[in-house]
Amino acid sequence: MAANSNPGHRNKALNSLNSPKTLSGASFDLPGWSALQLERVETALKNWVACPQTCPAPAGLGEAMRYAVLDGGKRLRPLLVLAACEAVAGNPQAALRAACAVELIHAYSLVHDDMPCMDNDVLRRGKPTVHVRFGQAQALLAGDALQALAFELLTPDDSTMPAGMQALLCRMLAQAAGFQGMAGGQAIDLASVGQPISAAQLHEMHKLKTGALLQASVMMGAACGRPNVSAQRALSDYGATLGLAFQVVDDVLDVVADSGTLGKTAGKDAAQDKPTFVSLMGLQASKKYAQELLSQAHSSLRAADLENTAALRALADMLVNRGF
Ligand code: IPE
Ligand code: IPE
Ligand code: MG
Ligand code: MG
Ligand code: MG
Repeated sequence: MAANSNPGHRNKALNSLNSPKTLSGASFDLPGWSALQLERVETALKNWVACPQTCPAPAGLGEAMRYAVLDGGKRLRPLLVLAACEAVAGNPQAALRAACAVELIHAYSLVHDDMPCMDNDVLRRGKPTVHVRFGQAQALLAGDALQALAFELLTPDDSTMPAGMQALLCRMLAQAAGFQGMAGGQAIDLASVGQPISAAQLHEMHKLKTGALLQASVMMGAACGRPNVSAQRALSDYGATLGLAFQVVDDVLDVVADSGTLGKTAGKDAAQDKPTFVSLMGLQASKKYAQELLSQAHSSLRAADLENTAALRALADMLVNRGF
């Protein structure tokens, strides 16, 4: 984490797991493991995202892209990719590219999510949002460019990754980011403002807008190795359940946490009349539901029957218990 100059809320989230003893009972040094992985990720992102020295972007676009990606964010998706790759003893170079690619899609989704036509937010990762700092047109373009760059990272013209692996990773990421995933979920989110929606619809929305990319993070990490079909299925269940739990917790934190801790404006969901798990089932029931999903995620992970799942287990605990 030394590689990041302003990771305020990231540190808070990771440090909230002071004891290495995780809820799953296993002892694992998550802060130590994360620090090592994050250093790799931060260095790679600095080099790969419109680096002013090696690959500059025109007309200030690179500055907006780097502002959106560097210096902030908990990097949970990259950590999941790298942990899943570790669990299947996969190709670490491929996993680093996959980790950065997922983070770029996530960062682009945040830039667009914050724009006035969507959530109209002014604070993100402890800084003014990209459109506030650079204007709406540049924010739109920075998001577009980050999305394209994600796929470029997955298709290197060297021998880092076999062609089949490149194609598989691109397909997984495209599906998770597009209409069957994040973008589809965001469309439901916007169409649902002020509308009464059922529990089933809310589940669907959360699974798509947030769950899909978190699940893809796990599956892309796994695709850097060769897990058997039953392990793949179990990891997929783990990722889907954890992804849903993550957005339930995001809804809870919007109510219980403050903007300084979150690095984004708290209380926005109620102010904008967004349907959330808290608005549907209340605060306590939402917290309880997140814990139920966490135990379900742990069961799926056990079912994967893989040797090295300590990081995946600890990350699940951290994702769901962050901020509480
Ligand atoms: C926030 O995600 C947006 C959601 C999908 C809920 P994170 O909480 O992972 O945001 P960063 O990356 O740490 O800023
Ligand atoms: C956004 O969900 C999910 C994305 C796809 C970006 P939210 O709108 O709840 O995310 P925050 O609370 O602004 O981070
Ligand atoms: Mg939103
Ligand atoms: Mg938002
Ligand atoms: Mg939110």
